[in-house]
Amino acid sequence: MTPTSPPAPPGGALAVAGLTVRFGGITALDDVGFTVEPGRTVGLIGPNGAGKTTLFNCLTRRYEADEGTVTYDGADLLAVAPHAVVGLGIARTFQNLGLFPRMTVRDNVLVGAHARARAGFAAAALRLPRVRREEARLRAEADELLARLGLTDVADRPATGLPFGTLKRVELARALAARPRLLLLDEPCNGLSHGEVAEFADLLRALRDDLDLTLIVVEHHMGFVMGTCDRVVCLEFGRKIAEGAPAEVQNDPNVLRAYLGTAA
Ligand SMILES: Nc1ncnc2c1ncn2[C@@H]1O[C@H](COP(=O)(O)OP(=O)(O)OP(=O)(O)O)[C@@H](O)[C@H]1O
Ligand SMILES: [Mg+2]
Repeated sequence: MTPTSPPAPPGGALAVAGLTVRFGGITALDDVGFTVEPGRTVGLIGPNGAGKTTLFNCLTRRYEADEGTVTYDGADLLAVAPHAVVGLGIARTFQNLGLFPRMTVRDNVLVGAHARARAGFAAAALRLPRVRREEARLRAEADELLARLGLTDVADRPATGLPFGTLKRVELARALAARPRLLLLDEPCNGLSHGEVAEFADLLRALRDDLDLTLIVVEHHMGFVMGTCDRVVCLEFGRKIAEGAPAEVQNDPNVLRAYLGTAA
């Protein structure tokens, strides 16, 4: 993001196969498989409770998979410790905003930057010069992101009390501060007005192209999915029921049935 930042390494295909997650009697994910090529934007759709967020929780190692494999950039993602996921270049936003309400907008974004900061705990505690230099660099990068996302004016305000649409952008800025190659967005348009959705879609497409992001976006807003995604995967009751180009999936009889609850 700044000229001094090393470029993100290339590569980064994601391959999910046979992924199964059970909670007691509920099978939240049932033998799910798909691949995401680097640079693609994949929409993940499906009715409430279909398993979309559970899939994100597996990819970020918050949930353990019962069966299946996930490889990211050639590595076995399911063998990676949860705190190390961000180091592989994977970041996410949350369906129900995961911000710290009393912290300022800038500090919330710095949380994302620190997730991948190089300084160890001991070096940070001792405030070594190299740590101070890194802090200054992270802060400059955070300020650049805040400007890019139109958040400079609210950078010093606590997150609490800001409009919902603004908080969504703060969360996106925080995820981007970790400099991901693969970004997982869980219902980024939820709660946004029609105009805000269109603005957000433009912003996201521009960020994707500028930062070489690979995106998986869980979203119920079909206009957004159709306009932003290259491919769409649809889940229902934990199973993949359709996959393909957006227009194909939108007209898929199984998808129509899942959403409308009637035989197509
Ligand atoms: N930690 C958990 N413990 C028990 N059950 C869970 C847990 N997380 C998810 N589930 C269950 O797994 C299923 C899938 O939930 P998930 O949150 O992944 O759905 P979703 O597709 O994200 O739905 P929504 O569109 O409502 O966000 C649901 O039946 C849910 O109740
Ligand atoms: Mg969800």
